[in-house]
Amino acid sequence: MARYGTSFDFIIGSSHFVKSMDPYEPHFWNKRGEVPGFEAFFKASLKRAQHLYDCFDSFGHLDYAVRYAPHQNVYYSYEQYSRWIDPLLRTLIDHGKALECNTGGFKYGLGQPNPRKEILLRYREMGGEMITIGSDAHVPDYLGFEFERCRALLKECGFKYYTVFHHRAPEMVAL
Ligand SMILES: [Fe+2]
Repeated sequence: MARYGTSFDFIIGSSHFVKSMDPYEPHFWNKRGEVPGFEAFFKASLKRAQHLYDCFDSFGHLDYAVRYAPHQNVYYSYEQYSRWIDPLLRTLIDHGKALECNTGGFKYGLGQPNPRKEILLRYREMGGEMITIGSDAHVPDYLGFEFERCRALLKECGFKYYTVFHHRAPEMVAL
């Protein structure tokens, strides 16, 4: 990271691959099944957060895998995977890293951002304060998608501020 110095305002650390396979690919789930697929994804994400927290400012779309799970979020809960999610959140909080609230989940028809509300609540409950907001737009039409919904949800979860980064330094902005 030293190579880039502060030439970036903001770096998102997003977990995708598990053993060279992205949950985006159906084969990821076909090979393992749904629950082991989630377990493998959260396990890998925890390991990444613990080893690489120095390389990013905010941890991106924490439950991203749910977008592509065979039943999406129908059988997915925070409680089921809390043994990996809790220490991941702990790592972010202890090292002053933000958690991303990614509205892409709404775009994928999940009715939730990534991560889902229970995880945002848990992060707040554990003392987490820094939330960055992203739309994962990929195309201009989705820039800022459902940000008002996101604002309301974050307030419901007990957040009063969201975080923006300039030259990799956080700034708290009222929601
Ligand atoms: Fe991503």
